[in-house]
Amino acid sequence: MAAISLHYVEKGQGMPLVLLHGFPLDHRIWEAQLTGLNATARVLAPDLPGFGGSPPLAADPPAMDAYARAVLAWADGIGVRHFVLAGHSMGGYIALALARLAPERLDGLVLVSTRAGADSTAARENRAKLAAAIREHGAQATVDAMLPKLLAPAAADHSSPLVDQVQAIMLAQPPAGLVPAVQAMAARPDSTPDLEDLTMPLLILHGEADATIPPSEADAMVEAAASALYAPIPAAGHLPMLEQPAAVNSALRDFLNRYWP
Ligand code: MLT
Repeated sequence: MAAISLHYVEKGQGMPLVLLHGFPLDHRIWEAQLTGLNATARVLAPDLPGFGGSPPLAADPPAMDAYARAVLAWADGIGVRHFVLAGHSMGGYIALALARLAPERLDGLVLVSTRAGADSTAARENRAKLAAAIREHGAQATVDAMLPKLLAPAAADHSSPLVDQVQAIMLAQPPAGLVPAVQAMAARPDSTPDLEDLTMPLLILHGEADATIPPSEADAMVEAAASALYAPIPAAGHLPMLEQPAAVNSALRDFLNRYWP
């Protein structure tokens, strides 16, 4: 695949740590990791195709594998052959696809607030409704459908600056990137059987108050994986990197120092 020019931000030197954001967000959710981990790793945070400053994919029908291939082509294009990959939510679906397509590229894998299973029929129907609402109302449809469940109850209090910050990131995403991502999520396969074959170091990180993807999904992945470290993050919802950045940075730093001291 030809190198695709994804917009990205990087800080630090050493072991490359690539951070993939979830839906419908962009690299800005990782700001605290870019500033807090750059003494430990070379932290790279791209905008996935169709999000932030990156062009959408041409793949039709849209698939998680196409996003994973785009990430691989981008990494090739900037000369990063091996890396630790952390994927948040949809970024985790992409990370699992990438681990299936090119496990030799991954020194380690971190699954943040995500799940390995495929969508249920009801979830697929909801995705179709969300895609239709985005076509009609733009990114506001994602705010209406998702924002109330993204943050833990304490932070979801309307006085929290996090609510405005997350909403601004959501509203910045173009429908041309959002709709194919919704379709690709609906079509994704079950990655659970792949978990037990993973041989690279694996960390599973999940907010204890995640109302978008319940912590039981993290428990299921820990059970299915041959050897996974688990870092539950107290007082965090679906966006632990923003809600509890110190705890997330500490879990990521411990993981990096444990395997690549
Ligand atoms: C995400 O945060 O990326 C999405 O909520 C994941 C999903 O909708 O399955």
